[in-house]
Amino acid sequence: MYSPVVASLRCPLCHGGMSAVAAGSGAALRCASGHSFDVAKQGYVNLASPAPAYPGDSAQMVEARIRFLAAGHYRFIAQAVAGAAAALCDAGAAGLAVEAGAGTGYYLAAILDALPGFAGLALDVSKAALRRASRAHQRCGAALCDVWRELPVKDGAAQIVLSIFAPRNGDEFRRILAGDSVFIVVTPTASHLAELVGSLGLLSVDPNKDEAVATSLEDRFSRVSQQRHESVLRLSHLEVAALVGMGPSAWHIKPEEFDARIGALPEVVQVTASVDVTTYGVRSSLDCQ
Ligand SMILES: C[S@@+](CC[C@H](N)C(=O)[O-])C[C@H]1O[C@@H](n2cnc3c(N)ncnc32)[C@H](O)[C@@H]1O
Ligand SMILES: [Zn+2]
Repeated sequence: MYSPVVASLRCPLCHGGMSAVAAGSGAALRCASGHSFDVAKQGYVNLASPAPAYPGDSAQMVEARIRFLAAGHYRFIAQAVAGAAAALCDAGAAGLAVEAGAGTGYYLAAILDALPGFAGLALDVSKAALRRASRAHQRCGAALCDVWRELPVKDGAAQIVLSIFAPRNGDEFRRILAGDSVFIVVTPTASHLAELVGSLGLLSVDPNKDEAVATSLEDRFSRVSQQRHESVLRLSHLEVAALVGMGPSAWHIKPEEFDARIGALPEVVQVTASVDVTTYGVRSSLDCQ
């Protein structure tokens, strides 16, 4: 695992720092007290203790996400996130960007491309997602943990935390962020995928979500900026299926029912993607190191 990432991790059992060691034919991370965590051959380390009750996105959902993101439909979101980070950090800044609920690491990779001095840590509870995230970028590492519990990251180790369509644990994000640092949140707006919400019966976005998100974070962070980013996507039926398959609606409606509803759509489906990118600072002066 990329050594600056290892240096930012802490043992989930005793909170001690971790070092990479050889373990049989593979590798492990070990703390000074001797707690040892194997690095999976796919490159991520499982630092969840206790084991999470919830497995996160399934392999099928992750495959759908990989297909959909690879087609570039959400590139405008990645550009917005990377632009927001670059606007708040000097071009030569160095540090660690942590994405909580990172999925495949698509957005984290965009940040690492924009900020060459940064290392990236992808946290997720889904093994299928982490297999992909650990390879998302050469300066990236990946760890399995439950974002709702203590994160296996040292106090103040991160200069950037990202939460993109993912759970937000404000207390832990605040703990791992350094003094002058940036927290970037991407949330869907009420217009996000609205055409599919109607025609396919997807889960709709709670219109009070933005306020709920802001309220839950404002004790620990001050809002620096918020920008809405929208794009009208033109999707084939296969792409609509991938978009549906990568989200929570995949759990609520039977696949054959979705297939029938998608089959009834026009050949090219116009769908609005609409998100708010909000940046928060731990303090009002924001220059990453
Ligand atoms: C909607 S996906 C977003 C993934 C990525 N941020 C993106 O936008 O491509 C949400 C991700 O959060 C992960 N997740 C959900 N609950 C989690 C938890 N309690 N701890 C860690 N990861 C979690 C899921 O496995 C999934 O990969
Ligand atoms: Zn330990």
